[in-house]
Amino acid sequence: MGMFDVRSFLKNEKIKNGFHYPVSISLRGKSIAGYFINHHIAHAASCYYSSGFQDSAIITHDGFGNGFGYHSGLVLYGRDNNLYPLSPNHLSIGSLYKSVAIMLNLGGFGEGKLMGLAPYGKPHFFHQGFVENWFGVGRRFKNVNQLNLWKEYCRNTAKDMGYNMDFLGNKDKITDPINTDIAASTQKLFEECYLYAVNMTRSLLSRSGINTNNLCLTGGTALNCPSNSKIYNEGPFKNLFIEASCSDDGLAIGSALYLYHHIKGNKLSLKTNNTFISPYFGRTIKENEIVEALRIFESKIIYKKINDSAMQAAHDVFGNKVIAWYEGKSEIGPRSLGHRSLISNPTYKDNWKRVNKIKHREWWRPFAPSVLEEEADKWFENMPFPSPYMLFTGKVINPDKIPAITHVDNSSRIQTVNKSSGQYYQMIKEFYKLSKVPLVMNTSFNGPGEPIIETPKEALNFLLNTELDVLYIDGYKVQRRS
Ligand SMILES: [Fe+2]
Repeated sequence: MGMFDVRSFLKNEKIKNGFHYPVSISLRGKSIAGYFINHHIAHAASCYYSSGFQDSAIITHDGFGNGFGYHSGLVLYGRDNNLYPLSPNHLSIGSLYKSVAIMLNLGGFGEGKLMGLAPYGKPHFFHQGFVENWFGVGRRFKNVNQLNLWKEYCRNTAKDMGYNMDFLGNKDKITDPINTDIAASTQKLFEECYLYAVNMTRSLLSRSGINTNNLCLTGGTALNCPSNSKIYNEGPFKNLFIEASCSDDGLAIGSALYLYHHIKGNKLSLKTNNTFISPYFGRTIKENEIVEALRIFESKIIYKKINDSAMQAAHDVFGNKVIAWYEGKSEIGPRSLGHRSLISNPTYKDNWKRVNKIKHREWWRPFAPSVLEEEADKWFENMPFPSPYMLFTGKVINPDKIPAITHVDNSSRIQTVNKSSGQYYQMIKEFYKLSKVPLVMNTSFNGPGEPIIETPKEALNFLLNTELDVLYIDGYKVQRRS
């Protein structure tokens, strides 16, 4: 490591051009020039080119890595419009996380559920010996598969410590210590491995005389909010950026950005501080599409067009109704950011249970808030602000005031909202005037195991088939006929 100087990489044309290659694509009889772009290069590009940084360390990590054909991520350095791949990483921490979710029988989207389960437990099984990359752990543990080894280690330690093993992976007993402590220990291992990789990257760059303050994190594992906050709070980089579509949903954008900036040589577009690219990438819904859908369901609903949706919705939420808020273009990435959202009042603790029931989710799963950007640091701490993509957890300063969005460890996964979110921002502002609380409880507008609602027809179907109180859909207020 001491002899490895990455500066030579920055001048090496072979490295610069070794991660994509030109191809010719045949489409409807025409031959079109194209490029194959490496998966992790596309991740890095999607993050770096939307960060606004002029230079940055970049870590991409998905999770899967057997140490051979397909590595689990890359470490890169971005400067101006160029991306320089420096080394692969073999963390494999994403697949380890997923395999623990499977062991605990968390079902679909298990990784997200594991992140929500971890705060219920204590990391009693965490062991520093597992903190390294796949090769390092394998070497120390005589090449045993790290994923199985970790799970076996947790089970054996739990047995020795006298845990009741009967409830391991039992859905009805998922908040029993055997499950929550394995979740908490795995979460801690995830965070420590990630922080290890960040520190290694810092040292790799420093030894080569590159002292950037900036870090881009991307790939599916960058969806782990507590880990991101730990890296922000304890890591060696001052600034941390993660894009809204950091999992594979950002690859197409990343490939296009890489082609535009790196291959074609277009300069970075300068971005003023703290402005983030809008996450609302969905298609525009035309009013006639809404009207058409309303007519289909006419016999079952009451609706009217209103010009003060923000105000009326805020009153409903203040009066403890659960509403759906559907506005303009939908958001990219897995997090609900206020354009396809179910909204409720965060000051009533019972809404935690109530909205989980409406969504047919497990009772223990937590909820996140959307908070006015200008008020966020008075309510939450230990995370970067603004934070518009819901990729960091903060500590709740006054848990008693907002119990429905405060997790059992007083953490919360925050989205900050400013006027670029449109009427959604106005609605939270109106709610603030009524409640003196500048945030609402926000969760994705979809049923269990279903994709996020995209069309007006799907939105109306949801209203008719759940205990949702009111639907606001681009200026229309809709309720069920009783
Ligand atoms: Fe990926």
